[in-house]
Amino acid sequence: MPAFKQFFWKHWYQYLTRRIGSAPVTFLNYGFLPPEGETVKLEPQDEINRAAIQLYHHVASGDDLADKNVLEVSCGHGGGASFVKRYHKPKTYTAIDQNQNAIAYNRKAHGALGIDFRTGDAQALDFPENHFDAVINVEASHCYPRQEAFFRSVHRVLRRGGKFLYADFRTVADEPKVERDIRAAGFNVHSKTDITAHVLRALTRNSERYRALAHQFAPRILHPFVEMFAAVEGSSIYNMFVNRDYIYFSYQLSKSD
Ligand SMILES: C[S@@+](CC[C@H](N)C(=O)[O-])C[C@H]1O[C@@H](n2cnc3c(N)ncnc32)[C@H](O)[C@@H]1O
Repeated sequence: MPAFKQFFWKHWYQYLTRRIGSAPVTFLNYGFLPPEGETVKLEPQDEINRAAIQLYHHVASGDDLADKNVLEVSCGHGGGASFVKRYHKPKTYTAIDQNQNAIAYNRKAHGALGIDFRTGDAQALDFPENHFDAVINVEASHCYPRQEAFFRSVHRVLRRGGKFLYADFRTVADEPKVERDIRAAGFNVHSKTDITAHVLRALTRNSERYRALAHQFAPRILHPFVEMFAAVEGSSIYNMFVNRDYIYFSYQLSKSD
């Protein structure tokens, strides 16, 4: 089962990237729209991705990243990496994903920003111990079959006192295990926030756009699956957020000094 999960997500995202080609679809997350609306002032060209960017901004604001060495695990199509590098101004930004098609896409799409994009597995991060000041991970850990290994791996590559800024969703039944794994890996928990309502607001706002993208990039036979995957209004995943069968959370964590 773990081997199948790893195989499925790897090949699904590689397929998705091939379908998207060179089109500017640089985020693969559900977004974040709090009741107050805008949480960050954006350049006009970034407005189209406001909800997805605001999810990154919410996560990245858990630490002052200016002049730090930052690793992003599971960067997808690199929109978040581009945003954090341009707006939060880390000294270096390294971004990995197991989808080699996405890494090739990112090197072209965001090549001018000096981001080090690499292929890699979140559960076995190929970096020295105590290496990064902060690690970011957005809406990806639900894909990893060995989640304990992921948290241990992030803990290993963080320097002492470094921050792990993290957001994802789980079913109500699976959600308590996340914090058990986080603590077992050795992290201190500074804060945990339930952002389900904010994510749901973003999904509702963007449903028509996500539906149109699903139809643009997927063959007709896959439309129902892709609409569910994109959690458009009325899909089973959207309804799981409405009914709070899925909880979307964010954490600010640190490694002890
Ligand atoms: C929902 S997308 C989120 C991408 C990005 N964080 C964003 O918000 O746009 C999940 C990402 O996790 C990546 N992923 C899944 N399993 C992985 C693994 N074992 N190691 C590294 N990346 C993985 C996928 O390739 C995909 O890019």
